[in-house]
Amino acid sequence: MARILVTGGAGFIGSHLVDELLKKKHKVFVVDDLSVGKKEFLNSHAKFAKMKIQAPQLLKLFRKESFEYVYHLAAQKNLQYSKEHPVEDAETNIVGSLRVIEAAKKFNVRKIIFYSTAAVYNPDSTPPNKESDTLQPITPYGIAKSVIESYLQISRLSYTVLRLSNVYGPRQDADGEGGVIAVFCKKLANKKPPQIYNTGRQTRDYIYVADVVKASLRSMTKGNNEILNISTGKETTVNSLYKTLAHLSNTHITAIRGKKVTEQIRSSLANTKAKNILTWSPSINLNLGLQKTYNWFIEQTWQT
Ligand SMILES: NC(=O)c1ccc[n+]([C@@H]2O[C@H](COP(=O)([O-])OP(=O)(O)OC[C@H]3O[C@@H](n4cnc5c(N)ncnc54)[C@H](O)[C@@H]3O)[C@@H](O)[C@H]2O)c1
Repeated sequence: MARILVTGGAGFIGSHLVDELLKKKHKVFVVDDLSVGKKEFLNSHAKFAKMKIQAPQLLKLFRKESFEYVYHLAAQKNLQYSKEHPVEDAETNIVGSLRVIEAAKKFNVRKIIFYSTAAVYNPDSTPPNKESDTLQPITPYGIAKSVIESYLQISRLSYTVLRLSNVYGPRQDADGEGGVIAVFCKKLANKKPPQIYNTGRQTRDYIYVADVVKASLRSMTKGNNEILNISTGKETTVNSLYKTLAHLSNTHITAIRGKKVTEQIRSSLANTKAKNILTWSPSINLNLGLQKTYNWFIEQTWQT
């Protein structure tokens, strides 16, 4: 049983991680400013402070709670917002993350697990990206994540960096710049047609949230000072994603097409390193993951 801080623990991935850590009888403390995260996602057995990670009180919390492990997920994760508001993005994603790292160093945290992104790679490179590929982020969000990876490497803290591909599952935000699966599920659950941008042949590497949580738990004891892609290594087109969702939801609504936007054409991350080092592999296939996610969005429509 360890004393664990989860920053961003009221968010999509963080709240699932908190649930699993508590099941394993760890003592879990969550720091989240609830800018995106929701109180109802937060497990009532976790201790909670509504706080920004960049706030000076964070140090006091580290002093008081003597955390042994830190899972650092709190982030401004909207790419478009990061382009329009790079300073605000950096305040959370760079300065806030540095505050977490400095506090972890000062109070002798045993290990920090940091959540990075596919957005650190060159978007025009041929997938799947490997961890050894040259980094070439083109958004403030991607730059901030790669900068924090570098800080961790010189921090003398024990760390694991998890570079996540496109995560999906229950509790994902379907508003704003939400993941495409969440957006499609919400539309279909409300019997409305989703919009497919560009040709629909653009690809992403979709990984189910429970598989990310499983890799996160393994990272407590494995993968010291490693950077690992957490992904399926498979590319799925938006067209095929939509076809599967329309079928399993039994809606067969025709998607709206025609809108052109600038976006990455292909994306996927090789996961061989994580498989070897964490003795982990993703176990939820896309069909099952989509079904679970869609079911959750249906439950949400009943609750409103
Ligand atoms: N979802 C994905 O596909 C994906 C992919 C790659 C990387 N990641 C990374 O994984 C982590 C979790 O992502 P998520 O999808 O669960 O996002 P999320 O937005 O649901 O969770 C982030 C949480 O951080 C909180 N937060 C934001 N700014 C904060 C601040 N300054 N202080 C305290 N709390 C703050 C939000 O309220 C939210 O609960 C993030 O670091 C994100 O960059 C996610």
